[in-house]
Amino acid sequence: MATYVVTGVSKGIGYGALTVLTEDPANTVIGLVRDKAATVNKAAADPEFKGRSNYHILETDLTSYDALKTAAAEVAKITGGAIDYLIANAGYVSLFDNFDGIGTLAEQPKELQDDLQKSFDVNVVGQIHLFNIFLPLILKGKTKKVISVTTAFADLDFTNAFDIENAPLYSISKAAMNLAVSKFSAQYKKDGVLFLSVCPGSVDVDRYKNTPPEQLQKLGGLMSKLMQYKPDFSGPVTPQDSVRDMKAVWEKATAEKDGGAFLSQYGNKQWL
Ligand SMILES: NC(=O)c1ccc[n+]([C@@H]2O[C@H](COP(=O)([O-])OP(=O)(O)OC[C@H]3O[C@@H](n4cnc5c(N)ncnc54)[C@H](OP(=O)(O)O)[C@@H]3O)[C@@H](O)[C@H]2O)c1
Repeated sequence: MATYVVTGVSKGIGYGALTVLTEDPANTVIGLVRDKAATVNKAAADPEFKGRSNYHILETDLTSYDALKTAAAEVAKITGGAIDYLIANAGYVSLFDNFDGIGTLAEQPKELQDDLQKSFDVNVVGQIHLFNIFLPLILKGKTKKVISVTTAFADLDFTNAFDIENAPLYSISKAAMNLAVSKFSAQYKKDGVLFLSVCPGSVDVDRYKNTPPEQLQKLGGLMSKLMQYKPDFSGPVTPQDSVRDMKAVWEKATAEKDGGAFLSQYGNKQWL
């Protein structure tokens, strides 16, 4: 039995987390989204949620400090002031930088700058405010775990060994956040709080449904590098399976042993 706050439950991995974590009726799950009505309606129409009343949907935006403060106050009212887990899943996953290397993006310097700025605003600054604002609730919780959903693309060894060019701006922002997670850990480990970055693996979230074929073709190069990394790679997993993998990692992890670490969905550095 645990109380979770999960950001970005409108779709993708976050919606998968809402599904998986509410399976246990003893859990309370509070999902944060930008459009509350859309997610409330989506869950209401989803047979998976039939008979489940152990979740709440609240509205916030990672780019608004005030909206995050309001959300934390609303969460405190629901839970009595404590939460066990904060799962920082929401993120800006750019499509601008997804298909090209950093030198190619340099041909559009203004767009490069704007996209990098947006990646930082959401994936770094927003998450840091989120952590600081929700920390008082975590400190009053039993489990005291803060999980940042990150990406293998932020791993230097993986990037260097396989020349992973794609998504440079997104990856830079995620790498910066990984260090922020270890800085939080450095300060709050003594209070028993686990701060941990966990990669969800490769997850099918229908990201490329509107992508033109000429862009999609560019992903072929990335795919062949992933096949070199893991020759039996059979493609992305479902959001629910990814969440079950990550949940096993964060349940096993402790502040003392894993504080500030950057782990895969298997609890190590095996990214696929
Ligand atoms: N899918 C993968 O294979 C994969 C791999 C590695 C890491 N990840 C990480 O997994 C996490 C979830 O990604 P996903 O694949 O599920 O992506 P997704 O389907 O694009 O979902 C992203 C979520 O973040 C929310 N969000 C975006 N900007 C926000 C903001 N400013 N304030 C609040 N919420 C915001 C979105 O809300 P809206 O619906 O309002 O846009 C959505 O709920 C991300 O941190 C991503 O970096 C994913």
